[in-house]
Amino acid sequence: MELKHIDLIDYHHNQWWWGESITMIYGISIGFVELQFCNDMPNIAFIKALSVQPFYRQRGFGRYMLAACEELARYNDVPFLQLNVDRNEEWLVNWYQRRGFFITGKDDHEYRMTKCILKI
Ligand SMILES: CC(C)(COP(=O)(O)OP(=O)(O)OC[C@H]1O[C@@H](n2cnc3c(N)ncnc32)[C@H](O)[C@@H]1OP(=O)(O)O)[C@@H](O)C(=O)NCCC(=O)NCCS
Repeated sequence: MELKHIDLIDYHHNQWWWGESITMIYGISIGFVELQFCNDMPNIAFIKALSVQPFYRQRGFGRYMLAACEELARYNDVPFLQLNVDRNEEWLVNWYQRRGFFITGKDDHEYRMTKCILKI
């Protein structure tokens, strides 16, 4: 069964020296995501630690949280979403590509992936 909606149960707006981040926690222990907005890079919102508890995977929660990040970044007029993915996780790279991300950089361990979410 794919659930269409999960409750946002906690939302923190954190102010750091480098910028701000928003932490969103969904359901009760279902999933977690942090979206970072950095002062030095106002055109990019960075997705950190998108994670769904193993029991709840493959039911659309990951997709849902990714869409929430995209909506929030768009609401803040930030045109690019970015994240890092382990290069060994080929299925995950494909998962992000199916959602409009492109590989835009790499180091020995990770790909940098980017999605343009606003017309610029
Ligand atoms: C990545 C993650 C957040 C996805 O969450 P999820 O709720 O399972 O994802 P969804 O249910 O929205 O989507 C499932 C999709 O992934 C695919 N998928 C899931 N696990 C897979 C696997 N092990 N191998 C291949 N495909 C897989 C499904 O086929 C489905 O694809 P589709 O929606 O394009 O048809 C989750 O697997 C996770 O928390 N992983 C560990 C932490 C992590 O690696 N986070 C990413 C950091 S960049």
